[in-house]
Amino acid sequence: MKGKRILVVGSGGREHALAWKIAQSPLCADLFVAPGNAGTEKWNVPIKANDIQGLLQFAKQEAIDLTVVGPEEPLSLGIVDAFEAEGITIFGPTEKAARLESSKALAKAVMKEARVPTAEYEIFSSLDEARRYIEVKGAPIVIKADGLAAGKGVIVANSKEEALQGLEKIMGGAFGEAGRKVVIEECLEGQEVSLLCFCDGFTALPMVAVQDHKRALDGDRGLNTGGMGTYSPPPFWSKELEKEVMDKIALPTLALMRQKGTPFKGVLFLGLMLTAQGPKVLEYNVRFGDPETQVIMTLLKSDLVPVLEACIQGRLQETKIDWLDETAVCVVMAAPGYPGSYPQGIPLGFPEITSSQEIIFHAGTSRGAQGIVSSGGRVLGVVGRGESLVAARERAYGLIKRIDFPGAHYRTDIGWQGLNQKKD
Ligand code: AMP
Ligand code: GLY
Repeated sequence: MKGKRILVVGSGGREHALAWKIAQSPLCADLFVAPGNAGTEKWNVPIKANDIQGLLQFAKQEAIDLTVVGPEEPLSLGIVDAFEAEGITIFGPTEKAARLESSKALAKAVMKEARVPTAEYEIFSSLDEARRYIEVKGAPIVIKADGLAAGKGVIVANSKEEALQGLEKIMGGAFGEAGRKVVIEECLEGQEVSLLCFCDGFTALPMVAVQDHKRALDGDRGLNTGGMGTYSPPPFWSKELEKEVMDKIALPTLALMRQKGTPFKGVLFLGLMLTAQGPKVLEYNVRFGDPETQVIMTLLKSDLVPVLEACIQGRLQETKIDWLDETAVCVVMAAPGYPGSYPQGIPLGFPEITSSQEIIFHAGTSRGAQGIVSSGGRVLGVVGRGESLVAARERAYGLIKRIDFPGAHYRTDIGWQGLNQKKD
């Protein structure tokens, strides 16, 4: 059989991890990444991730057999609809299905209709009414801009004053159109965990569960970021919990999306809080997570390509996915100052890697005249894999010490929740 020509869309650590995994597939003959980073440079083509027409032209000209989309922006711009209209095979949800992420108000309505457990909430378009609601409900309380706000549109307020200030900021124009409507909801308590599922419109297959670290500083202090590190699987995760999430959350969501005429294909990313009353949904994302994907691809034993094709062709029911029985830890090395302002062009030096249990995924990197330099906030995702969380952490942090990245900012406590919890 002729090998496949595969295109990955995006330029972050997530896309490097997807490309790294796809490149190992015996089904893949040629790989392209648009636009990619220095870690994917041998596959890069200079087309931006949200240039839908440019990507479509490229896929047609180059006879691409499969396109895999990383970020949410091209999905919410309708890249899947544009490709499908021309009969070109692509992995991801349509623009309408992608609204599960691009509108938090719609996501809550879907959860309600599908009877998926989530925080109690109200939706407001009027600042005065929202203010009154906060006055009545008090704190702690959570305020979310309805639209996409690069992960910064959520305020978990511990006092009424903080809540009112956050509300003014979101509805006062700081988030533009995304803040015209707000979701105000009950504050949930528990362990936060991400469960990503492959979906074919009808059924869903879960990936390994992951814990992300969103805050910039050790001890979960500092500003929210795109994610400073991940590990998988958390020791408290179990097959029973996975089944509960699939039965009460993933499958009812897919059934409702099908019923609404917007079947969901692609990756459904469930942001969950494990509360005393059971798992509840914090948010849906409609794509692979970053940096969740870096540990997920490290632990995926099966070939990724047939799984992506099974999703597109509605054959997930007959698909089995195998995972390594190990733990993976990804520590993000960021530019000094991230998530505030930070310099670019920092020269990076890489050690020789001789173990398959150590991987460096690039994110904000590019090739300068003198070698590879930083070109973004989150620069590298440094992954260690091992038979235990302790062993995986040692590998990841050992590898960091061998990387030359002056002034790098990274957390030293990735996986702390797991270290604090024994398995039974
Ligand atoms: P989201 O973008 O909706 O996932 O929100 C970003 C972060 O805010 C989540 O990862 C949680 O840490 C926190 N968060 C969101 N909703 C709630 C909630 N209802 N209760 C407590 N924390 C929340
Ligand atoms: N790491 C969280 C996300 O990808 O949205």
